[in-house]
Amino acid sequence: MSNMVTISIDGKSIQTESGKNLVTVAKEHGVYIPTLCYFRNIDPLGTCRICTVKVNGRDTTGCTIKVADGMDIEVNTPELLENRKAIIEMLYAEGNHFCPTCEKSGNCDMQNHAYDMGLTVTRYPHVFSEKKVDFTPKRMIMESNRCILCKRCVEEVKTPDGKDVFSFVKRGVNTRVQIDYEQEQKLSESEALRAMNLCPVGAILVKGMIHEQPFGERKYDLLGKDIKPVVKGNTFHKADDEKFIVATTSLAGCFGCHMSLLDIDTELLDIIEIAEFNKSPLTDIKNFSKRCHIGLIEGGCSNSENVHVLQEFRKKCDILVAFGECAIMGGIPAMRNFVPLQECLEEAYLNGVTTEIGADVVPGH
Ligand code: SF4
Ligand code: SF4
Ligand code: FES
Repeated sequence: MSNMVTISIDGKSIQTESGKNLVTVAKEHGVYIPTLCYFRNIDPLGTCRICTVKVNGRDTTGCTIKVADGMDIEVNTPELLENRKAIIEMLYAEGNHFCPTCEKSGNCDMQNHAYDMGLTVTRYPHVFSEKKVDFTPKRMIMESNRCILCKRCVEEVKTPDGKDVFSFVKRGVNTRVQIDYEQEQKLSESEALRAMNLCPVGAILVKGMIHEQPFGERKYDLLGKDIKPVVKGNTFHKADDEKFIVATTSLAGCFGCHMSLLDIDTELLDIIEIAEFNKSPLTDIKNFSKRCHIGLIEGGCSNSENVHVLQEFRKKCDILVAFGECAIMGGIPAMRNFVPLQECLEEAYLNGVTTEIGADVVPGH
């Protein structure tokens, strides 16, 4: 018993063992301290600072603290919550993160923190730094755009004969993780997988094993399944016996996403059991006849008509879902952003192989 100490976490008096890790003690007593670089089986790295707490009034990383008698610890003050959110936002702004198409989505600690904090956009300007994606290693892909320099891989991934596989190279804002190709070849598949799973984000990927665990069944996928979506300050409401009212539209794109909906064949009948389609190319209903629970948006937003349709969907639907590459990332329509407009119009309407010979008309010009 002489080993026991008394500390205070957010005003709550706690008795615990001296020298125990603060994150563990807090968790045991129902207080959650978010972490990113910290991993239960390795020595604290103290690199990300998302676990910042106040100990006796001073900011410090919670994951590196061993509790001692009389410590007064603050975890969930408005200031600390805001600082943690700012750190996650900075990480998003500093790297190039596109969660909807990321292989780690659903298993990513940083993405989970962002959802948890209600983050939809970062307050900081994106750096858009050019970072290399290295496909050269035998088993792995190093996606530096997503690396948060947590140092887990550098400290923990060794070959069977104890050699480092990952190391930090360069300095300051140019610091990045480099893979030693020769050592990486010595890793077995399970050792490579361990490295991938050790990485808290999607920076280390193992070729051929990236999608082993299906989306929808990943670590964080089901955490929010019982949370009711919030719509403009009100809880989204649908009576249990009411069908989902769904609207769909295709902005600029190939209509492929709608085609893939139709491609589910007889399973469409299961959807009809729980959903009623309102305005949609699937029903050929041209105008909203009622408010919809969900609006599905396919295609990129490319012209004023698309903006008008989007605004109408925003007004008439409780929740909008962008589905497919073009709606999420710009996709095919965004590719023309790299071609001068005049050249683009001429190719599409005057000189392209599919243009009507002799028509010579550019719409709106
Ligand atoms: S690594 Fe995580 S945060 Fe980054 S893009 Fe992938 S899922 Fe999103
Ligand atoms: S590759 Fe992953 S584990 Fe290694 S430093 Fe970057 S984020 Fe951390
Ligand atoms: S979790 Fe403590 S510094 Fe990263």
